[in-house]
Amino acid sequence: MTPTQALRVDTLPYQCGFGNQFASEAVPGALPVGRNSPQRAPLGLVAELLSGTAFTAPRGHNLRTWMYRKRPSAMQAPYTRISNGAWCTGPFDKVPTPANRLRWDPCPMPNGEADFIDGLYTVAGNGDAHAQTGVAAHVYRANRSMQRRYLVNSDGEMLLVPQQGSLRLHTELGRLQLGPGEIALLPRGLRWRVELLETEASGYVCENYGAPFRLPELGPIGSNGLANPRDFLAPVAAHEDDAGPVRIVNKFLGHLWEGTQPHSPLDVVAWHGNLVPTKYDLAHFMVIGTISFDHPDPSIFTVLTSGSDTPGVANCDFVIFPPRWLVGEDTFRPPWFHRNVMSELMGLVKGVYDAKAEGFVPGGISLHNCMLPHGPDMATYDKASSAMLEPHKVDDTLAFMFESRHVFRPTAQALQAGHLQSGYDRVWDGFESRFATKPLKASSPP
Ligand SMILES: [Fe+2]
Repeated sequence: MTPTQALRVDTLPYQCGFGNQFASEAVPGALPVGRNSPQRAPLGLVAELLSGTAFTAPRGHNLRTWMYRKRPSAMQAPYTRISNGAWCTGPFDKVPTPANRLRWDPCPMPNGEADFIDGLYTVAGNGDAHAQTGVAAHVYRANRSMQRRYLVNSDGEMLLVPQQGSLRLHTELGRLQLGPGEIALLPRGLRWRVELLETEASGYVCENYGAPFRLPELGPIGSNGLANPRDFLAPVAAHEDDAGPVRIVNKFLGHLWEGTQPHSPLDVVAWHGNLVPTKYDLAHFMVIGTISFDHPDPSIFTVLTSGSDTPGVANCDFVIFPPRWLVGEDTFRPPWFHRNVMSELMGLVKGVYDAKAEGFVPGGISLHNCMLPHGPDMATYDKASSAMLEPHKVDDTLAFMFESRHVFRPTAQALQAGHLQSGYDRVWDGFESRFATKPLKASSPP
């Protein structure tokens, strides 16, 4: 398998690794040596700290970055409230949460002009931004770049999963380019803007109010496998020239606030630290599965995890179902029927998901909440339970899941939307009992 070909060739410079102590300077000599806050920072710059965790968080979890910038971020006018548009925030308690499996077709593009903020649409979420727990699942739909305005999310970090169109993300720490098949993680509190490289762009967002996403522990897998740290890419320092007033949109406790300032917030000339935006090509994910029988729990597909106060129980796991070989002997190879305490919200970047023959389309969303039974649809079950079990490549597909200990609560707008499918439950209709009091002659397929 080769890395995903993004819609556009990415020629930007990067540094590689996840959780590293990176260092970068756009101008030689801009980064202080041997200290973080000298009496006068080099080249007339101002030192500023961005903390992503409590100062006293354990060393292995502590995230912070020092920036050396032309002006401090504090130099800004007061914010005033603007419309939240379709961006909703936890607690998601405005409408009752259905005890049903739900599925949506792709959310239509906005009618008028919309940048990344204008077109953000919340499907479901859980937890509480104020309590810094839970996540929200959104889709983004944009047909223009953010023009002279920048986003800072005080409520959480943002995990972007593009489904259509390439983006260039301009951040305080530098630039990242992103296309379908890749993801980007943007820390809470970072200032950034989205430039479209195509006429339209759409995709999914996990807004994480809780503990920052990190790589999962590997346990008996060992020191290699799943998402390898080396394949994550952080930007190098790049600062924008001043070009007049700009608007900063601050998402703060569920509301959008906007303020102006006379210069770009992307004026960081040098920085060092481990709180950074990062991108990752999901084609680099090393998939692990059975080479005998059965298949492991889907936790084996975890790319990133946001922990909770309970060890092993995630605030949110980001899980993917990428191309892979299926070779299990005497095994029902698609996902089994199951009911989980964890809640599962899925999206599809491309292709066909191997548990559903139809109805779950790229750009769509499905939701299987705590203890709601689900699994392969009737057509998939019939096919898989009678297939010849030769090695089979599940190819040209990329599905993903935001899996959370907290029940996903759909927003009122998503429950009333025209793209909510009716009759999703019927995909499991038609199972007839094949129970027989005498065992079948062989467990191999007919
Ligand atoms: Fe599931």
